Amino acid sequence: MRALVTGAAGFIGTNFVRQTLARKREGIDRLVALDLLTYAGNYANLTGLESDPRFRFVRGDVADRDRVAALVAEEAIDVIVHCAAETHVDRSIVDGAPFLVTNVHGTLALLEAVRGRPGFRCFLHVSTDEVYGSVAEGRSTESAPLRPSSPYAASKAAADGFVFAYAATYGVPAVITRCSNNYGPYQFPEKLIPLFVTNALDGESLPLYGDGMNVRDWLHVEDHAEALWHVLGLRAAPGEVFNISAENEMPNRALTEQILRLLDRPANLVRYVADRPGHDRRYALDPGKLRATGWRPQVSFADGLARTVAWYRERRAWWEAIKSGTYRDYYDRMYSGRLAGSSAAPREPGV
Ligand code: NAD
Ligand code: DAU
Repeated sequence: MRALVTGAAGFIGTNFVRQTLARKREGIDRLVALDLLTYAGNYANLTGLESDPRFRFVRGDVADRDRVAALVAEEAIDVIVHCAAETHVDRSIVDGAPFLVTNVHGTLALLEAVRGRPGFRCFLHVSTDEVYGSVAEGRSTESAPLRPSSPYAASKAAADGFVFAYAATYGVPAVITRCSNNYGPYQFPEKLIPLFVTNALDGESLPLYGDGMNVRDWLHVEDHAEALWHVLGLRAAPGEVFNISAENEMPNRALTEQILRLLDRPANLVRYVADRPGHDRRYALDPGKLRATGWRPQVSFADGLARTVAWYRERRAWWEAIKSGTYRDYYDRMYSGRLAGSSAAPREPGV
């Protein structure tokens, strides 16, 4: 197997690549890591892998059609795990344009590169539960309608649409996975868990949006990586979709309390700030289809969160390097006004 992993220097890509090479997965002859190294990509995450003869890192843009087509041909790629994306909902609310380019044009460029390619085995498109939108009750199955709320989610839903279309129209062997919120090591500290852990370690405020009762469904990134390999092994029909969830639903407020407890930090670090516009109240995936094929998550949330918190506590140099420079400007832009108008008590939902 000759695999191309896009977005390999990001959070999920890094964990997927490291796990794949560390476990010496049978059948992996080549692993090409393609990443543009945007603000979210960090080449240092892949340190140490260069000595593995199966590994090659390429800096490049998934939306660059010629580059992507040439790479796929030159490396005789037969499997693609497509993780590259603009991924932060808050940034998409400020400007959706980069999300359209990377998430939609990028996916299209990759699909074009493999269309009609002899011997090509699988294009695995890593999508998200956000495409289903907010779920008031029950859990989203793979056939639930797509109702994206944020520009990010809209771009992922559009990309899913191109995957379906290339499977149906050209028979591209493409499948989609939709996972819930991931947590674990190497996550860029703009996302809830690494942001709150690193802020708490520095005695800084933890800005909870709205009333803090929005519910997310947490999946350890190692379980996600295993699930991706499991799906690859299924040889599913073109256009199949698989939800990936460990069914760990939790309101943000309860998660924040757990982080503070693990770090032994005071509750008064929490500040309730103005809500995210269009903030989905709850995500909940039904992973029954994948479970029926034998996949099971292995990491309990208590253990996974404790290990994750410990990882950031012990890797101060990793996140301090990120949380300086342009990150500081981003943080001030997104949070200084909100924190100035924050309160110690929960707000009404959506305020
Ligand atoms: P991330 O933001 O940590 O990493 C994204 C990576 O993509 C970065 O390394 C970045 O440099 C790279 N990238 C961005 N634009 C690129 C471009 N034009 N060309 C090449 N590389 C580019 O994201 P993540 O959390 O690792 O997410 C990976 C995938 O999983 C995304 O498709 C995301 O939509 C999906 N997903 C993530 C989560 C989650 O909780 N993190 C949940 C569901 C789905
Ligand atoms: O559900 C899957 C999605 O999970 C992925 O598709 C996205 O790429 C990924 O970024 C993530 O999106 P979320 O918006 O759920 O993640 P985020 O970490 O930004 O926020 C998690 C919850 O925490 C959400 O309800 C908003 C809230 N939040 C977030 C931040 C950054 C806060 O209350 N305060 C914050 O400062």
